[in-house]
Amino acid sequence: MIKIAPSILSADFSILGAEIEDVDKGGADYIHVDVMDGKFVPNITIGPLIVEAIKPKTSLPLDVHLMIENPDNYIQAFAKAGASIITVHQEATVHLHRTIQLIKVAGVKAGVALNPATPVEMIRDILGDLDLVLIMTVNPGFGGQSFIPQTIEKIKQVAKWREQYNLSFEIEVDGGVNGSTAKECVEAGAEVLVAGSAVYNQTDRKKAISDIRTAAEQ
Ligand code: DX5
Ligand code: ZN
Repeated sequence: MIKIAPSILSADFSILGAEIEDVDKGGADYIHVDVMDGKFVPNITIGPLIVEAIKPKTSLPLDVHLMIENPDNYIQAFAKAGASIITVHQEATVHLHRTIQLIKVAGVKAGVALNPATPVEMIRDILGDLDLVLIMTVNPGFGGQSFIPQTIEKIKQVAKWREQYNLSFEIEVDGGVNGSTAKECVEAGAEVLVAGSAVYNQTDRKKAISDIRTAAEQ
């Protein structure tokens, strides 16, 4: 079963609550929240205050993607604000295993994201600790970028290890996912598709979500 996670990065922030209710009613499975600090990535977005404010707007899991340096310092705050999944970047933390344990102690599902240039081998030894692996299919920082095709091989390798080691983490893809790129991601082994511009740049979000789902499941 494919899950669609609209990224609110491309939503209208002046009416953010309504934008979230719109995709909730439109059949989304997760709400993807892109947190950027202006250091790990060249953009600044959302903090725990916004996560706390949107939490009552939806019963869907809040899938919080931390594109920040020193994520350990903020895990507690995002957990308290209502995150259901917290994903940190392998490139942003030196002691990744410790960071994962901090997320779990906070009572939240733990994910690790990999930039397009980061080999999947970097997380092989901790796959058993993860609830989610996020393969970035663009360089993080902005919505509306083009899908990087070389990332498909990484999805395939992670999916292969998942089967080989009998693990059950979800594989999520993020960046440039739309009706044209969703299918190859799913064929490679991903089941959670983040889509920002492909959902929020359309007026009919329900149709946008179902179009991606249909393309992915073809
Ligand atoms: C990129 C973010 C993505 C982004 C995706 O840094 O992590 O979640 O919002 O946007 P689209 O789907 O437009 O590429
Ligand atoms: Zn993201």
